[in-house]
Amino acid sequence: MDDLRKPILPGKGASDYERYLRTDELLSLQKRPEELLHKDEMTFQVVHQSSELLLKGAAWELDRARGHIADGDDGNAARLLRRANQMLDYPVSLLHILETITPYDYHIIRAGLGHGSGLDSPGFLALLHIGPRLGEAFNSRLHQANLSVDDVYRRHEEFFGLHDVAERLLDFDERVQLFRFHHLKLAQRIIGGGVVGTMGTPVEVLHQRMEHLFYKELWDVRNQITAKANAAMQKAGTGSKY
Ligand code: HEM
Repeated sequence: MDDLRKPILPGKGASDYERYLRTDELLSLQKRPEELLHKDEMTFQVVHQSSELLLKGAAWELDRARGHIADGDDGNAARLLRRANQMLDYPVSLLHILETITPYDYHIIRAGLGHGSGLDSPGFLALLHIGPRLGEAFNSRLHQANLSVDDVYRRHEEFFGLHDVAERLLDFDERVQLFRFHHLKLAQRIIGGGVVGTMGTPVEVLHQRMEHLFYKELWDVRNQITAKANAAMQKAGTGSKY
């Protein structure tokens, strides 16, 4: 009988677990203890590397979702958008771990970053690339079906699939904004809101970028719906301030 503990996969590592996940390589991607400028640097690197992996995973699923939207398969599009959004929750919450680094200690780590900046984050850039393409795929579906965004919301039971996709796109847009908000707070806490970053970008620019939306029309439709409801209530003599 075969020994089930013996690895059968190709590659380095004592077990198939290590070979499949390539843990030797993965766990050698952090500085060795003697190379660390500060003991907190391990956490700094692990948080960044974990975020990059999750952003890569999310961008991959978002691109698959885009393909499903274009093919008219809203069920699978919404399923993968949901998965990508769940993945994006983690880079947002990982930011809070770095809030435990105190400013004086951070400057010791920062001295070794060169011109390294999150502006060059491959994972985040991938999100910025896929975001508009998802919007185009969704809009071209609306165009083909001769529907407005308002139609999809008003007749959401009839257009359940498209409505589900619209809401999941909104979840994605919200998560990118949440990432930017919590990241701005992190930068303000650690290096301050009135300074210039490692690539020469003032932290204030992070504030401006937070305003960016991928799917403005999906946010705006709420204003139109409320305006219509207010007008109807005024006509009927009832009203609400909410
Ligand atoms: C101590 C922690 C951190 C500090 C002080 C910090 C600071 C900054 C600053 C100052 C910028 C502006 C650009 C520049 O560097 O000049 C920036 C951009 C950015 N950083 Fe960080 N960062 C931190 C952690 C992280 C982490 C964990 C990530 C996760 C991937 C990240 C991702 C980004 C991204 C994506 C941008 C571009 C933002 C955008 O386009 O809105 N940062 N960061």
